[in-house]
Amino acid sequence: MINIVLFGAPGSGKGTQSARIIDQFGLYHISTGEVLREHIARGTELGLTAEKYISKGHLIPDELIIDLIADVIDNDAREAKGVVFDGFPRTIPQAEALKKMLEERGSKVHSVVGLEVPEEELVERMINRGKETGRADDNIETIKNRLEVYRNQTHPLREFYINEGNYLPVNGSGTVEEIFDNIANGIEAATGETRRSRR
Ligand code: AP5
Ligand code: MG
Repeated sequence: MINIVLFGAPGSGKGTQSARIIDQFGLYHISTGEVLREHIARGTELGLTAEKYISKGHLIPDELIIDLIADVIDNDAREAKGVVFDGFPRTIPQAEALKKMLEERGSKVHSVVGLEVPEEELVERMINRGKETGRADDNIETIKNRLEVYRNQTHPLREFYINEGNYLPVNGSGTVEEIFDNIANGIEAATGETRRSRR
């Protein structure tokens, strides 16, 4: 299995770049945020719980997210060549749980792509998306909380993965294609895989 973590602040381009990675490297995509938004739309029990946290910009409790990921690895992604984790892990306990889950299955995280974007640009992107798509947590109040939660709970993972030796920092400002090219070069170097086509 080839496992790539797409890491970065809210609005840093994780979803945008994941789409290109799965297309070019043939991997399975899991965005915990998207899965939770689907649960909210369907009105499931998990959705009802998740909505309370997401609307405030807070993180869903680790146990719920870890169970969700274990289920994806063992079911939806079981036949896949590998997985792109988008928006997971977001806390140290989540990162430790992922490490253990993959070790138990004889695998590991090959590369943690860290999209680094200045905060002003993140806010501008999310405000624009909120206007265009109506995504409920893209309002200024919730955006501020999401960025604070990122700084306090998620950013420490950067250090965690630097120590693991698999952190790949990528400048997340610029055109989507330029950024993807840098990510793809890093994934190729870390995994020995090659992208399907160069544009
Ligand atoms: P999640 O859905 O993961 O949201 P997020 O991390 O806040 O990130 P976004 O999806 O907003 O941004 P992105 O990095 O995917 O960027 P995108 O490509 O869309 O999580 C939502 C919530 O769910 C969390 O707050 C939490 O409550 C909960 N949750 C999720 N996972 C969890 C976990 N593991 N544990 C606990 N709770 C969890 O790009 C953003 C915008 O910028 C788009 O409009 C895009 O078109 C644009 N854009 C992208 N690239 C560029 C570029 N190069 N130049 C200009 N614009 C660009
Ligand atoms: Mg996203």
